[in-house]
Amino acid sequence: MAEELFIAADADKKDKYTLLIPQLNALIEGEEDLTANLANISAALKETFGWLWVGFYWVKNEELVLAPFQGPIACTRIKWGRGVCGTAWKDAKSIFVPDVEKFPGHIACSSSSVSEIVVPIFDKQGKVVGVLDVDSERYDVLDSTDVEYLEIISEIITGKLEK
Ligand code: SME
Repeated sequence: MAEELFIAADADKKDKYTLLIPQLNALIEGEEDLTANLANISAALKETFGWLWVGFYWVKNEELVLAPFQGPIACTRIKWGRGVCGTAWKDAKSIFVPDVEKFPGHIACSSSSVSEIVVPIFDKQGKVVGVLDVDSERYDVLDSTDVEYLEIISEIITGKLEK
């Protein structure tokens, strides 16, 4: 596939996701390397939505370890149950944090991030193997529509996992 995204800049959020998702599928179709696919998914999300930070943490030896992302440098390791990411892993549920100041234990990788969504990624047996994390420097950008579509993207990633 061509290494170029086609997303109308003036499309609304739902339309952007509707345009993006088939292109993500095309982008990762035929590529089995997980790192390559996570890298392109984070780049495509950053290019489409311009968030401050978007990327992945992957479960390794009982910790979340920083994986492909786009944005400022970030903390490399997060323990189970810690921060928004570790809590999404522990609870195996998406978490939308409209104001990070109101989430006790939020890990501030960047002081510019004020709002965050973390979506777990499950393997084919339903075990959490990683998380997709999105951070915004604005309070009015992330909402439940993002959660809905980021969960669809998480399912697409599950489909690419070996087991
Ligand atoms: N804020 C996250 C840490 C990861 S960074 O935002 C990239 C958390 O509380 O888990």
